[in-house]
Amino acid sequence: MSASDYVSHLFSYEGQVVVVIGGTGVLGGAICDGFGKAGGHVVVSGRSEERGLARVEAIRQAGGSAEFIAVDVFERESLQSLRDQVLASHGQVDVLVNCAGMNAAVPYEEITDEDWDWIMAGNLRSTQVGCQLFAAHMKTQENGGSILNIGSVTSHLPLSKVFAYSASKAAVVNLTKNVAREYATQGVRVNAICPGFFPAEQNRKILAPERVEKIIGQTPMDRFGEPEELIGACLLLCSRNAGSFITGADYYVDGGFTANRF
Ligand SMILES: NC(=O)c1ccc[n+]([C@@H]2O[C@H](COP(=O)([O-])OP(=O)(O)OC[C@H]3O[C@@H](n4cnc5c(N)ncnc54)[C@H](O)[C@@H]3O)[C@@H](O)[C@H]2O)c1
Repeated sequence: MSASDYVSHLFSYEGQVVVVIGGTGVLGGAICDGFGKAGGHVVVSGRSEERGLARVEAIRQAGGSAEFIAVDVFERESLQSLRDQVLASHGQVDVLVNCAGMNAAVPYEEITDEDWDWIMAGNLRSTQVGCQLFAAHMKTQENGGSILNIGSVTSHLPLSKVFAYSASKAAVVNLTKNVAREYATQGVRVNAICPGFFPAEQNRKILAPERVEKIIGQTPMDRFGEPEELIGACLLLCSRNAGSFITGADYYVDGGFTANRF
């Protein structure tokens, strides 16, 4: 086997259907591009049709295959409809990436129940419902499937100013491990990546200059991450060959941020 055949055996997604919820966002978009370049058919899913179609076009321009399906992660019916549409068109779903997310920086004593519930539903319940709906089908497939959730460095370190976000991301990692255990013998692997700091839409408002200085100061690599730098970890964790014995992992891609503290 040649070197390129070997690498391809480990990391190719040819013939696989990859659904990226939140594929219209900054990190989700890069993840979509990565799976597209690795040969997967990418279902870019999110709220904005305009952004979704632009991402589909970019994947096609790069030689990949993609489509857009709208979803609202607050609605179980919408997530169910996404899954059912994918299965109706393709008859299979090999990878699900739960990459939608929301954040808000609110002083602790001013957090309302509405703020709290919005973030918990958007980050945690949506991940739970995605896992539940897709794993139930994946376990019936001959090749099983793989789910990737998105934690954060806040999954282990409570970050100041974003209380609900931190709690939701800690719970996403806990849920990931629990669902991984549940499906471990049923052909469905469930992992999480925990990104460090990557400037994006949802955190633009909380990245004030003095906070940026603090974050970079605590990141050993002395810089923010680039969205493309998440792709390698995603391809590894979701790969049925390279990642076949990896489940329940929380994998940090953070320029060493958490290495400073553990
Ligand atoms: N950017 C970072 O530094 C960072 C760090 C750690 C974790 N994360 C996580 O990565 C994920 C992606 O975030 P991002 O930074 O790319 O932000 P982003 O704002 O660019 O993307 C968020 C995505 O969530 C989608 N979304 C929001 N509400 C939705 C809804 N109701 N239904 C469907 N989709 C909805 C948006 O359309 C968008 O695609 C989030 O879970 C975020 O918490 C980001």
